[in-house]
Amino acid sequence: MNSQTSFNLRELIDSSANRVLDLHSDFVNPQYAKVLRTIGFDVNYARAEGAYLYDDKGQQYIDCLGGYAVFPLGRNSPEIQDAIKQAMDLQLPNLPGIGPFKLAGLLAQRLLELAPGNFGKVFFATGGAEAVDAAIKMARIYTARQGLVYCHRGYHGLTMGALSVTGNAEFREGFGDLLASTVEIPFNDLSALERELSTGRHAAFIVEPIQGKGVNMPSENYLREASMLCKKHGTVLIADEIQVGIGRTGKWFASEHFGCGRPEQGGTWQPDIFVVAKALSGGYVPVSAVIARDEIHRAVFSSMGNCSKMQNTFSMNDLSMTVGLATLHYMRERKTCEHVARVGNYLVAGLRDRLRQFEMFKEVRGHGLMVAVEFQRPQSLGLRLGWDMVHKLDESLFCQAILMPMLTDHRVLAQVAGHRLDVIKLIPPLTLSEADCDKIISAFEATVGACHSLAGPMWAVGKKLAAAKMRTANV
Ligand SMILES: Cc1ncc(COP(=O)(O)O)c(C=O)c1O
Repeated sequence: MNSQTSFNLRELIDSSANRVLDLHSDFVNPQYAKVLRTIGFDVNYARAEGAYLYDDKGQQYIDCLGGYAVFPLGRNSPEIQDAIKQAMDLQLPNLPGIGPFKLAGLLAQRLLELAPGNFGKVFFATGGAEAVDAAIKMARIYTARQGLVYCHRGYHGLTMGALSVTGNAEFREGFGDLLASTVEIPFNDLSALERELSTGRHAAFIVEPIQGKGVNMPSENYLREASMLCKKHGTVLIADEIQVGIGRTGKWFASEHFGCGRPEQGGTWQPDIFVVAKALSGGYVPVSAVIARDEIHRAVFSSMGNCSKMQNTFSMNDLSMTVGLATLHYMRERKTCEHVARVGNYLVAGLRDRLRQFEMFKEVRGHGLMVAVEFQRPQSLGLRLGWDMVHKLDESLFCQAILMPMLTDHRVLAQVAGHRLDVIKLIPPLTLSEADCDKIISAFEATVGACHSLAGPMWAVGKKLAAAKMRTANV
């Protein structure tokens, strides 16, 4: 007789519904829980669908954070769910270890067809940082050099390798020695790049075509010239499209906006390696990919003895390969890139139009559904006092004064684009509609407008967060 009870997820969720944040605080990360409570982001989300989250009272929120850019077909996409169910029903010989991986070749083939350049092979990993580590290792072995050049504010992940080329000090502090022979240069600075590359020490230059932290755009020809410099000095160019790749900007690869492509298709440059992840997962099963030129890949996998020189236990598992294949399939079917380009243009134009009346508004920039709204110090004395007070408390605080009422009063979830920035970033699921954009634009107009009143949220939030900070400092 079998006395085992069934696992009941619904029951588990219901029984802990009122303790979610306490459990997180007690057993996962108390500081994270404290931050959520302080900034009012401790909403009890009960369900999600498409571009929306729903709280336990059934209220809908437009999700402009998109799980950090991982939902190309929307949250809980029925198509991806169906693909996962198919994979499970087929009782596939998942993870043979030593034996043929059924689906990896198919996904690699699709990625190589889509990538704008002449690439030869794909190495799969699980998270983005893991793929960055793999790309670094490939570049080092291929060039037999150590050096790595990366950009200020470049973000490539937080494993020790990826962190070593991440140009945001706040993530690096306190962890001791990272990879040796790394050099940080300013983004968009070709002279600095040339100076470094001409030393002949560098294996790779790693760059995001559009920087995620701050949503910084490359200046005209920067990427093409950088690729020429890399070629001239024998350095591998790694384009990190983990966030901006796979449709986010309205093209399969963001680099295509800047002339990247095969020469026969009019492309003027291409990187040696692309890394992608995030959206390839369909928002369900983590998967990342290093798309490399053949000779670079061959430098690692140079003989039968070296055939497993780089590997991860869970990469190429059937579920991650399935979601990758299904994501690419349905994005093509639904013409997701065209949709993203159209809706992204609508959002940018609407925000620009309705926010330019405000002193604190600086600009909107973006490609597709990777959009930034930047603010600036106002001219009028009263507002400047508020601006300075908030910035003195914390240089990342001003945007929070907009994001908090955006969430609580307008039910739009978004994020600050990075530490010490007056930039809000919007990276929603790629199913966002024009009607959603209208709501987002109105929410911005109302909230930014309120910040221009002396009794507005800038002061209120400043006071609230200052008090919370003092309490934390006293702990
Ligand atoms: C450009 C870029 N590279 C690398 C990473 C790291 O990916 P992961 O968080 O999956 O390790 C990220 C994550 O946000 C990213 O945006």
